Amino acid sequence: MREEIINTKNEAIAQITEAKNSNELDQLQIDYLGRNGKLTKLIKNIKELSDMEKKEVGRLINDVKNTLVSTLNDKKNSLKENVREWFDPTIPSLKPQIGHIHLITKAIKEIEQVFKQIGFVRVRYPEVEWDWFTFGGLNFPDNHPARDTLETYFVDAKPHSKYGAMLLTPHTSSGQIREMQRVKTPPIRMINIAKCYRRQSDISHYPMFHQFEGLVIDENITVVNLKGTLDYFAKTFFGADRVTRIRPYHFQFTEPSFEVDVNCGVCKGKGCKVCSEKGWLEMGGAGMVHPNVLKNGGIDSKKYSGFAFGWGVERVLMMKPNINIPDLRIIYTSDLRYLNQF
Ligand code: DAH
Repeated sequence: MREEIINTKNEAIAQITEAKNSNELDQLQIDYLGRNGKLTKLIKNIKELSDMEKKEVGRLINDVKNTLVSTLNDKKNSLKENVREWFDPTIPSLKPQIGHIHLITKAIKEIEQVFKQIGFVRVRYPEVEWDWFTFGGLNFPDNHPARDTLETYFVDAKPHSKYGAMLLTPHTSSGQIREMQRVKTPPIRMINIAKCYRRQSDISHYPMFHQFEGLVIDENITVVNLKGTLDYFAKTFFGADRVTRIRPYHFQFTEPSFEVDVNCGVCKGKGCKVCSEKGWLEMGGAGMVHPNVLKNGGIDSKKYSGFAFGWGVERVLMMKPNINIPDLRIIYTSDLRYLNQF
């Protein structure tokens, strides 16, 4: 019986190898492995053997069956590969999906352009930064709430002997001293646009967001230069009918400091739902660079003065007419149904 099995196997393999198409293969499958197939019949005969033989022949026949199944499959696959499908080269091809720049990247490019037109230079500084550039050098007291781990992400690394703890920049103001150290002798006209990180998440806040920081240092720089720059930005970025106002405020690194508002684009200052009846929308902080900060950046505070401002990219984008951002977090969910609108 053993010989019969081996012969059947060899015969089957020879025929499978010779087969020219899948119909022939289907027939061979029936001839050998079908209900009345040659191998199936041999399997049925096993029951007539002695117990000892049953085991051994059973194993052999099982191996043969497996070999035939895999040989049939291999041959089927190789026949498929050889089939050249007919195709019509004149049919227009599928259009490749073309993506587009993310709306925040677009806003960043636009802001960069607006400031380049009045001589600002775009720079970038580390987003994993030392405390000194972020807080210490900017006049923040040791116990300022922003230095708390509940506010700022600290990186678990050895503190720098001179610059203190390592952290993720919570604002772009950390670029101010870096820029003073780079340029050394004013004039400075910096626009630093970068990612910022804070422990926050709600309808208008996200743990990662973007800010743009302006810094101008030269001889005889006054609040007038600051106000002119703010109005220029509002008119160029939002539209010719927009103006800004500054309100006294407090920041550690500027003196005097201001909160900057832009008139509401919907009601033009009269008061409506968008601006909570105030007529103005809050844009961010600004002020005249504190003499201590100039000193920390190695600049002669008797000879030079300057102004700085820092605003959120997402925030100013939300204030643009016709941009609908119902929840800031949606910008970063990569949901194309939303992003493709822009
Ligand atoms: N860094 C401040 C913040 O994130 C914003 C700011 C205020 C920047 C006043 C400035 C400034 O340059 O002068 O809240």
